[in-house]
Amino acid sequence: VCWLTPEQTAGKQKPFMYTQGQAVLNRSFFPCFDTPSVKCTYSATVEVPEGFTAVMSATSWEKQNETTFTFKMSQPIPSYLVALAVGDIVSAEVGPRSRVWAEPCLIEAAKKEYDGVIEEFLAVGEKLFGPYVWGRYDILFMPPSFPFGGMENPCLTFVTPCLLAGDRSLVDVIIHEISHSWFGNLVTNATWGEFWLNEGFTMYAQRRISTEVYGLPYTCLEAATGRALLRQHMDNTGEEHPLNKLRVLIEPGVNPDDTYNETPYEKGFCFVSYLAHLVGDQSKFDAFLQAYVNRFKFQSITADDALAFFLEHFPELKEKGVDSIPGLEFDRWLNTPGWPPYLPDLSPGQQLMEPADRLAELWAADSLDMEDIEAVDITAWRVYQLIYFLDQVLEKSPLPEGNVQRLSKMYPKISKAQNAELRLRWCQIILKNNLEAEYSRVKDFLHSQGKQKYTLPLYRAMWAGSESARALAMETFSATAPQLHVNVQNYVKKILGLEVPE
Ligand code: BES
Ligand code: ZN
Repeated sequence: VCWLTPEQTAGKQKPFMYTQGQAVLNRSFFPCFDTPSVKCTYSATVEVPEGFTAVMSATSWEKQNETTFTFKMSQPIPSYLVALAVGDIVSAEVGPRSRVWAEPCLIEAAKKEYDGVIEEFLAVGEKLFGPYVWGRYDILFMPPSFPFGGMENPCLTFVTPCLLAGDRSLVDVIIHEISHSWFGNLVTNATWGEFWLNEGFTMYAQRRISTEVYGLPYTCLEAATGRALLRQHMDNTGEEHPLNKLRVLIEPGVNPDDTYNETPYEKGFCFVSYLAHLVGDQSKFDAFLQAYVNRFKFQSITADDALAFFLEHFPELKEKGVDSIPGLEFDRWLNTPGWPPYLPDLSPGQQLMEPADRLAELWAADSLDMEDIEAVDITAWRVYQLIYFLDQVLEKSPLPEGNVQRLSKMYPKISKAQNAELRLRWCQIILKNNLEAEYSRVKDFLHSQGKQKYTLPLYRAMWAGSESARALAMETFSATAPQLHVNVQNYVKKILGLEVPE
């Protein structure tokens, strides 16, 4: 349960509290069987001080009087999906079954970001995966220290305010959380050792919806940035790291949160894409996903359950023994660490990636060909093209002396970006090239938000860098630690070699 002071909110006037259950934190919120293998309904009465509003991950919400709210979740859910937030929050309608919740100073921006778009994602999801069973789909914008991009609390997704980019460019996070309405919230991993069942299927579902709404080229581009994250993660940890398996062993005493990384997301996505590839026909695979949801809805399952159902659904594939093709055995997918043995074809995104690949090559050259560089007009590029470009530059970094400074001057759209995904990559490039003159950008970014996936890579990069980069890490952490979620605080401490409480 996170208690924030007024200074830790956007409006800085009133305190805020929220809960984050996943993976095993809700045992400190209420007594429960805190395992994803048990599901139940719940109801709650919440008393708040005057001037506050309470919201929960529940089917119904009623305001009894100025300070009392009652809730009822009518569908069985695992403990980690029970969520509560209390603050100075207001709401605005953005669709027939959707509203956004935010502090008053953010509500206009929140409404503008998502007005009229949520319903289309829900409708496409229903077309692909079957009925949306949760009634409403609302979104709560959290204070900046919220540690995730999004959290799929049923009926009410919690999201970072970083999504308020002003141009809907980070909407893939919303599509992701909506996809959990079927994969994760309806069909749930029975243990956190098979977290990929939640996240891998959700990444696949997210990209199916994205393909329907935005087309295949754009979706392949977004998937390529995901693949780059998996590459970075495996390079950091070593491919053979035991957590780079889809099925991980969570022994007594191990905190499931410590197993959170890119593998269940992006290797999981590759495995589900491989299953689709075995089927060969997209509409048949879509029908399978719908049958899978229908077969296991409101249940918690293991990967063995899911894969047995797959083979049952496609008896011709079972007959052919697709689960034991040498090198691509289902068992290997689940139990062998390392790079995925099959990668889905992302070449439909080539038209969007190719110009970014070429531009990154130009900037990595020993002597810059400014004529060629200036011939490329990035002003019309989509945000994900810029992200992809920066990932390429990062991979080639450190660049020859002076190149990043020139790049920074040439593209203020990148070096002065407000978009959080661009800021993350730009900060990573600053650190990898040890551009001390731009350290303040890293500091400002880490002061402005506390998302785990942004915070940890930057501290890792600072700690792996020069003396001055390490000093920047220490200084920034001592200033921002009280604002960070306790899990994130502890992970940063581990990176910096500071003592972590048991
Ligand atoms: N359920 C996760 C967030 C999570 C994972 C919380 C593990 C606690 C423990 C959520 O659905 C998620 O994956 N969010 C991503 C979104 C992205 C993949 C589009 C995030 O926060 O970055
Ligand atoms: Zn997710």
